[in-house]
Amino acid sequence: MFLFFLFIVVQIIAGAVGSSITPEQTITSSPEGSNTTLTCTYDDSAVFLHWYRQKPQSGPEFLLMISKTTETVKRAEHLKPRISIRLHKDKKKVDLEIFPAAVSDSALYYCAMEPTVTQNSYTLYKK
Ligand SMILES: *[C@@H]1O[C@H](CO)[C@@H](O)[C@H](O)[C@H]1NC(C)=O
Repeated sequence: MFLFFLFIVVQIIAGAVGSSITPEQTITSSPEGSNTTLTCTYDDSAVFLHWYRQKPQSGPEFLLMISKTTETVKRAEHLKPRISIRLHKDKKKVDLEIFPAAVSDSALYYCAMEPTVTQNSYTLYKK
């Protein structure tokens, strides 16, 4: 059985002072085929929650984002349906769910939050 490894880093986009988002795990490994959940905890200033990943020798790649107010999800084009985002507003947590996990999912994963509602910061990540 193969194991794969995920490393989580946190980033705040256009951060207001005092905003924070924190990963629940920093290094994790899961068996191939398993249901893997990566979790970050955000604070009240979050408006949009994002997940990115970065593979060796390449730049960060946008995966998914969700709006805290409308729970609208935006997916990257060509993103595999086995990767999804889940918001737990009551616990202020945002999950990235990978099911079934594959060896090719080994990467550095970033959770990020966008604390502002200005049109500018939204269009910035609209691509
Ligand atoms: C994967 O695990 C999460 C957390 O335990 C659960 O909420 C979710 O329903 C599971 N997904 C699948 C596809 O089994």
